[in-house]
Amino acid sequence: MQYHVSFDISFLENTYNGQFIVLEGIDGSGKSTQKNIIQKEIEKKGKKTLLTHEPTREGHIGKLVHEILQSEVLIPLVGLQYLFAADRSVHQEHVLIPALQEGKTVISERCFWSAVPYGLADKEHTDYKNASESMLAAYSLLSMYNQFILPDKTFFLDVTPQTAVKRLAAMSKEKEIYEKKSKLEIIYQGYKFLLDKFPDQFIVIDGEASQEKITEAILSNL
Ligand SMILES: Nc1ncnc2c1ncn2[C@@H]1O[C@H](COP(=O)(O)OP(=O)(O)O)[C@@H](O)[C@H]1O
Ligand SMILES: [Mg+2]
Repeated sequence: MQYHVSFDISFLENTYNGQFIVLEGIDGSGKSTQKNIIQKEIEKKGKKTLLTHEPTREGHIGKLVHEILQSEVLIPLVGLQYLFAADRSVHQEHVLIPALQEGKTVISERCFWSAVPYGLADKEHTDYKNASESMLAAYSLLSMYNQFILPDKTFFLDVTPQTAVKRLAAMSKEKEIYEKKSKLEIIYQGYKFLLDKFPDQFIVIDGEASQEKITEAILSNL
């Protein structure tokens, strides 16, 4: 049976004193690298900062998410998406809002935007051209009945899955479940879908450039 459902989506704006900056991109796109450099540069200007990331890897839910990503605990991927959202809600209430209230500049590796490409990648054979199906999935992941705060600036570090896979292979860390090339390709398509659907929400940075150039590009957009 088929039904048609459509609805509007609205985002929760950041009304706190602090600025909320997010780095997005596929695994290996350089988010962690830039996060630390950007923090130092912002602190040089005398601002207080908080570095954070989603998923959190802390607390009961964050630890469980980490174990699932490392394949130490196996659950259906749809369940993982709900755990991501649960972890994100804890992160928002316990970490993000208090820091923004204190006027800190929060630099986060990932936010709710990641839920769309990663969540959709779990659905095998997702057709990104079929916007209605994609958006429906996105709506349920993005809005649920809670709203996550929209970042003031979201930087998308654009690297091809090929580059990301090469970089990840050079790192000697355990592979996570989304870090396979085939998955990264679908996730990358998911980001392209987001950029197309919400163009005003992303500042696209050439993630294949040198680290210095990338830092410069981010700082010039703050
Ligand atoms: N601009 C860049 N050029 C080349 N290699 C990079 C660049 N930025 C990061 N790297 C390297 O790529 C790997 C993945 O970077 P990382 O910051 O951990 O990515 P992410 O946090 O997005 O998964 C690391 O080994 C890092 O040193
Ligand atoms: Mg990282």
